[in-house]
Amino acid sequence: MKIDNTFGIDAQCRELITYDSEQTLREALARIHSVHKGLPLLHIGSGSNLLFLSDYSGIVLKSCIKGIRLLEETADSVLVEVGSGETCDDFIAEAIRRGWYGMENLSLIPGQIGAAAVQNIGAYGVEACDVIDKVQGISLTDGTTHTWTYAECKYGYRQSIFKEELWGKYAITRVTFRLSRHFVPKLQYGGLMKAIEQAGLSESTLTAEQLRQIIIGIRRAKLPDPAVQGNAGSFFKNPVVAREKAEQLLSEYPDMPHYPAGEGWTKLAAGWLIEKAGWKGRSLGQAAVHDRQALVLVNKGGATGKDIQRLCEAVRKDVATQFGIELSPEVNLIDNWTIGQSDN
Ligand code: EPU
Repeated sequence: MKIDNTFGIDAQCRELITYDSEQTLREALARIHSVHKGLPLLHIGSGSNLLFLSDYSGIVLKSCIKGIRLLEETADSVLVEVGSGETCDDFIAEAIRRGWYGMENLSLIPGQIGAAAVQNIGAYGVEACDVIDKVQGISLTDGTTHTWTYAECKYGYRQSIFKEELWGKYAITRVTFRLSRHFVPKLQYGGLMKAIEQAGLSESTLTAEQLRQIIIGIRRAKLPDPAVQGNAGSFFKNPVVAREKAEQLLSEYPDMPHYPAGEGWTKLAAGWLIEKAGWKGRSLGQAAVHDRQALVLVNKGGATGKDIQRLCEAVRKDVATQFGIELSPEVNLIDNWTIGQSDN
């Protein structure tokens, strides 16, 4: 059975099981543990942050849990529970329609709500964890329900407990967001103010929907549409390095973008490093570095997961040689050995 993924990699699995409620997930798990005992189990979202390195010999699970439920409302904020199978961008559009604010800058990021909570998606100065209140999930081993508070999710830059110690152990079923009833635009991220001015808008009268459209415009201009060219957004994380290392590089490359990342740390732009290493727009077989945003690797058509991985390694090697910096993938690389769990 083919596994959908935005990279457009042809990857098959033994069986793909979708579920639309906690109950149907528990039933599916009971069947998996009796009929398919011992096979690896992988939970995916909409496949927008995965790279399959080979066919997957096990079972793939996918949430189709829908629903937007208002749990609590005050003069200032709302608490809203959202099914993990809702499309993230559809929820953002709906939230703006209902006057719930805080996620505008995340507009057009592909993927589902569950994956947004796992990956801690982020863009233009906002991260999912800024608005996440709690996360619910079901154990893939025994079907029990678990709720994680914000603190228990251990969020960091594109990081969470679900990507680390709990990787492969739970299905996220619902995510609760705390959203504001007052629109306060976050416009600090480089380029946002300029785009607003260019659109003939001003910060004082800007609406949430206008900000959403500006963000959508910027993303469409820079990032390839997976429907046209296979990709998974940023392939690498922006590296966070010791401030001394950043200063040493800045003395050699004074125009290098850099951002403070907490006491003694500096975040660098992986896209800039890759471009300087000469990889922007370059191909290795059918895998290529995108010509408008070097942080994105694309499938020019017919690339395998291994082709993309080869390009990833070539880029990493050159960036390491030129700058002494190890890039790490943001995308989850999936093969039958690095992921998946058996039920024994
Ligand atoms: N840059 C280059 N060359 C490139 C790409 C970028 O010189 O080919 C420079 C830019 O000029 C800028 C800096 O690098 O000075 C940062 O670039 P940009 O603002 O485009 O953002 P990014 O750091 O490359 C991150 C996220 C994106 C998110 C944007 C906007 C990560 C890994 N990526 O990219 O997230 O949309 O910021 O907030 O943090 C994603 O996760 O899939 C994703 C697209």
